[in-house]
Amino acid sequence: MVELIVKKRKGLELNKKELTSIIDGFISGEIPDYQISAFLMAVYFKGMNSTETAILTDLMMRSGELIDLSQIEGIKVDKHSTGGVGDKTTLVLAPLVAAAGVPVAKMSGRGLGHTGGTLDKMESIKGLSVDMSREEFIENVKKHNIAVCGQNANLVPADKKLYALRDVTGTVNNMSLIASSIMSKKLACGADAIVLDLKVGYGAFMKTLEDAEELAKVMINIGEKMNRNVIAVITSMSEPLGYTIGNALEVKEAIDTLKGKGPKDLTDLCLELGGHMLVLGNVSKNHEEAVEKLKTLISSGKAFDKFKEFVKAQGGDVNSVENTDQLPSTKYSRTYKSEHQGYISELNALDVGLASVKLGAGRETKTSNIDFGAGIVLKKKIGDFVNKGDSLAELFSNDEGSFEKANELMTLAYKFADKKPLANPLILKTVR
Ligand code: URA
Repeated sequence: MVELIVKKRKGLELNKKELTSIIDGFISGEIPDYQISAFLMAVYFKGMNSTETAILTDLMMRSGELIDLSQIEGIKVDKHSTGGVGDKTTLVLAPLVAAAGVPVAKMSGRGLGHTGGTLDKMESIKGLSVDMSREEFIENVKKHNIAVCGQNANLVPADKKLYALRDVTGTVNNMSLIASSIMSKKLACGADAIVLDLKVGYGAFMKTLEDAEELAKVMINIGEKMNRNVIAVITSMSEPLGYTIGNALEVKEAIDTLKGKGPKDLTDLCLELGGHMLVLGNVSKNHEEAVEKLKTLISSGKAFDKFKEFVKAQGGDVNSVENTDQLPSTKYSRTYKSEHQGYISELNALDVGLASVKLGAGRETKTSNIDFGAGIVLKKKIGDFVNKGDSLAELFSNDEGSFEKANELMTLAYKFADKKPLANPLILKTVR
């Protein structure tokens, strides 16, 4: 292992045999954490080429269970978002593309820190379960063309162990390590093709378009080497997506969007990503035709019907998604008012995300409980004009003591200007 650390420290390429011995030795416990940490730091500074990155991805993917979706007919297209604030895209996209004929067999995650997780959002619907056996999962996709469940501990265990070390050794932010971590999980889940939503901005992992583009290229390269079609859409996360942040609040906004009454940014993003999913899934000839098909599914009510079918199939209370005032709510609410007059020029997604966690909508630690009704409804977004005393947002919580801290964070989120800021495009670039 010392030789391999030195080899990487010198910036030399590691071959398949060498990378295999590192990953196998790490999983078996033969190679101690301190040597893997040194190796990760060498990778952080010297990088990995595309061949090494693809080999690492393949080794990580094979470190645990591989989900076999071959019993499900059709091309299984997965979507991955690098995470953001107010990102309820999966709740809209999954039933929408399922209604269009693309089988959706999706494994999602929980929220941690300032970003939410699809599983938590789904569980805010009474009775809905995201725990199911592999057989039930596949049966649900065969029957309803859609199932969303959690990832079990046996899925890419190498990533869990490696990420835990990266997290405490300052080596998370390396393109090859990020790309292999995400792609190994998507590929282990059985995806034939993948649409990536790479977020850029305050609330996101990648802070610049250049970084996101580089990550996109590394991930597409992995796809090419592993015979999978990958498209990356780079999108802005400078302000939260849509107007709601918090689990049940986001479910409600997703339902509005499935009914054609959602906010423009969320709707546009879902049509953009969904369009690529339909083309990759061989259901539409081109992106334009796909987007038209998705719009028709929304206006005809078929997209929302598929959502209800999906909720029912996973044990959820359909009544509460038909009458969204029955979704979880909170005892207390406060209006967050503007202390300034002018145009909103910044609405920092990270601060808004942290404020929603304070209100109870997210987890501060892995074991924290979530208050499903808690969160934030924005009344204004970047480019809107406000007067002093106007409502900027409504805050919801069951913990009356949480409003003070949430208010402080909200105050940090906003900047105002005398001139209307230039419109900030949501979809920045498509890389394929
Ligand atoms: N998300 C992941 O799953 N892995 C990373 O390394 C970074 C973000």
